[in-house]
Amino acid sequence: MQADTSNRPAHFGDYQNEIYFGGLQGVIPKYPVEFKTLVQRATEAMPPHVLSYVQGGCGDELTQDRNASAFAHWGMVPRMMVDSRVRDLSILLFGDKLHSPAFMAPIGVNGIVTQDEHGDIAAAKASAITGVPFMASTLANDPLEEVIKHCGDTPAYFQLYTPRHKGLAESLISRAEKAGYKALVVTLDTWVTGWRPRDLATSNFPQLRGHVLQNYFTDPVFRSLLEKPPEEDPATAIRTWAPIFAETMTWDHLSWLRESTNMPIVLKGICHEDDARRANDMGVDAIYCSNHGGRQANGGIGAIDMLPGVVKGAGDTPVLFDSGIRSGSDMVKAIALGATAVGVGRPYAYGLALGGAEGAAHVLKCILAEADLMMAVNGYPTLEHVRAQGAQRVDG
Ligand SMILES: Cc1cc2nc3c(=O)[nH]c(=O)nc-3n(C[C@H](O)[C@H](O)[C@H](O)COP(=O)(O)O)c2cc1C
Repeated sequence: MQADTSNRPAHFGDYQNEIYFGGLQGVIPKYPVEFKTLVQRATEAMPPHVLSYVQGGCGDELTQDRNASAFAHWGMVPRMMVDSRVRDLSILLFGDKLHSPAFMAPIGVNGIVTQDEHGDIAAAKASAITGVPFMASTLANDPLEEVIKHCGDTPAYFQLYTPRHKGLAESLISRAEKAGYKALVVTLDTWVTGWRPRDLATSNFPQLRGHVLQNYFTDPVFRSLLEKPPEEDPATAIRTWAPIFAETMTWDHLSWLRESTNMPIVLKGICHEDDARRANDMGVDAIYCSNHGGRQANGGIGAIDMLPGVVKGAGDTPVLFDSGIRSGSDMVKAIALGATAVGVGRPYAYGLALGGAEGAAHVLKCILAEADLMMAVNGYPTLEHVRAQGAQRVDG
């Protein structure tokens, strides 16, 4: 069945009124309304090993910082004398009509970001509250079948780290399809972990400590590789998992992926125009422009600066984007540069850390409210208006 979440409240900007009217009763927002304070508060709330994993990036974190700062050199020109009292931010994605272009990017440690260690479920609940689709990571503290139950009527997508063990990969894919995930998002840039000094300095790699491996530990194929179940001998289970975690994907794997599922296939991590062109030629269902939030390779180019090339190469194939989205205006700029849908990553994870599902939902609502109000003020009643206006480079 196709989902239709477009009948939700028309204007995300109304969240602003809710906040101001709350003020008349002496209520001020429980969680921050912008990124800088969100980071500060989440930093105080998270235990050091979780914080370093979520906040840290690769090398000296130049790419990670540029992902966010690069939005400053893209600007949008306001248009006046346009009736933008009614805005439509809806998109069509994988056959579903969604009420906004936002989605929740996969975050493999959601599970340990909340104090109850069920952060994947909290993220799914935030998705249900807001109607913003959740892309569930392979790395999770709760099995994918359980997580999707909490997404309500909002579509969810499954992000695959393709195991080196083919049978295990196929098992995860078929479990995701059976559970009702609407797309398979294959991450290409993480067959090996990037050099992450913050985590290295404390020898901190959560998966090796047994965190977020529930999709494996509950998988019949993975369990068949073990003499004793993971509940009895977690150390052996972890040692079995580590070497088969991720395959080095090449274009040759695409036909096998196609044969493995009827779900639309999304390639995550495409940053070059030629790679986008090839993905389009090979008929992938969506191309996901992302540099993994600067956590994998410290190449030095903000992801938003690579988006126009990817959009050009992608032809008619939808382009999803993430890396550096911190606000509603970032989201609108990514749409202006050609993205079909825009992923929020670290900001919602910080929201989870502060207030579970409620905190993450608040972060998403703030981003959507700002996007909606920017469109209202700038005279862009629809995303087509945003795309037609485009964004300009403002160097200097
Ligand atoms: C703590 C953390 C864990 C992540 N885990 C995954 C993951 O499991 N799978 C994946 O494809 N991407 C993962 N990512 C990358 C995100 O999907 C997304 O590309 C990135 O967060 C975008 O950067 P931003 O959050 O700085 O905007 C992770 C990112 C963070 C911050």
